Amino acid sequence: MRPFSVRSLPSFRAAIRLPGDKSISHRAALLSALSSRTTVLHNYPLNNDCLFTLRVLKQLGIKVAIKRLEGFRADVRITGKGLYGFRPPCSSLYVGESGTTLRLTLGILAGQDFQARLVADKSLSVRPMMRVTVPLRMMGAQVDSVCVKRGSKREEYPPISIRGSKLKPIAYTLPIASAQVKSAILLAGLFAAGKTSVIEPVKTRDHTERMLELFRADIRYAGKKAVVSGARALVSPGRIYIPGDISSASFFMVLATLVPCAEITIENTSLNPSRLGIVKVLKRMGADIRILMPTKHNFEPMGTIRVRSRHLKGVRVSKEEIPLLIDELPVLMVAASFARGKSVFEGIEELKVKETDRIISMRENLKKMGAGVEVFRKTGRVAIRITGSKVLHGASVRSFGDHRTAMSMIVAGLAAEGTTKLDDAGCIDKSFPGFTRMIRAFSVKS
Ligand code: S3P
Repeated sequence: MRPFSVRSLPSFRAAIRLPGDKSISHRAALLSALSSRTTVLHNYPLNNDCLFTLRVLKQLGIKVAIKRLEGFRADVRITGKGLYGFRPPCSSLYVGESGTTLRLTLGILAGQDFQARLVADKSLSVRPMMRVTVPLRMMGAQVDSVCVKRGSKREEYPPISIRGSKLKPIAYTLPIASAQVKSAILLAGLFAAGKTSVIEPVKTRDHTERMLELFRADIRYAGKKAVVSGARALVSPGRIYIPGDISSASFFMVLATLVPCAEITIENTSLNPSRLGIVKVLKRMGADIRILMPTKHNFEPMGTIRVRSRHLKGVRVSKEEIPLLIDELPVLMVAASFARGKSVFEGIEELKVKETDRIISMRENLKKMGAGVEVFRKTGRVAIRITGSKVLHGASVRSFGDHRTAMSMIVAGLAAEGTTKLDDAGCIDKSFPGFTRMIRAFSVKS
């Protein structure tokens, strides 16, 4: 446990540059390993999740060299061995708490001619896996997991054993909008003889599609459909610069909006349209956000985001928008807690199966600080209504072991009156190990 306390931040002005986007980094590492050349990944984030992906690749016989740089980032050199170059692992592959490592690796292992066992930590071991095991079995992989029946409902959990085989292509409509599941199927599609297509109910982040295109896979994607043809070698671009993580940036965007007279400039940040839900919603709330110098770098757009403080008003976020800001919902709930009027976020049930149930964690914490929070059902979907208050007061809050709950509550504490005590900031290392240090630096300067 690493407790962390914050007091209200009077005002600050800062320019920051963040380590690479977590989602893009996992994909860059995995595809580099599957190509047959060396790829150098610049601005690779040294967070726990992305390190687990590198560790898994090493266990599969891939050479990975990490040159650590300042600010929890690195240049990572990966020597790929082609689609079928992995070595069967000598022991179980431990993925820690990284759901993306687990689900995407399953997609790749589905096409390998050996058996592997993936083991997760406690919190990931209770997250649902049937969403990914079902389509991979349809493609021909043999998958065994921990199966639990509750009433008429069946679900599967890690540890998961997978034995790959010659895969057959499928045309799959996702029952749940999930970029991880879409990606697992598309990656498995690289090993299938023919065209594998995935249709999403609502568009999710398209980093896998873009990365596959960059590595010259035969991929076509538009709107909610992506089609990949298998059995084609991947060609590495040699070097990839990974744009800064917009999910990490979102905490600073909300902080600069809420703290009076604040301004933040966040350079080299990913501006992928399928991740910009946070910017759109904050703007609808009245936030002062400018995108400066956008560039289409490599394969993913990026640029500078400048945010200045503003009073916010309540907002309605529809269920179609949720996948475009799924990881930013906790910090958006913080923004809503300080906004004038009511905010409603609809169709948020996927928050229940993240590192913790983020509906419970955010409701408990925000209520303690004085926000009005109600969870209700609307046409069979879960929604949350937040009644903002101009002034929230500091409180003792809990991370629930979840990095995004922890960072969101630190932001809330910095914008609230008095002192906020978080029980544990250690979990933040999952995605953003430098976060508390950066916050401390702001507090000292202001
Ligand atoms: C991710 C997809 C999302 C997101 C997660 C990262 C990815 O999960 O919440 O943090 O990198 O594909 P789901 O696919 O479960 O929605």
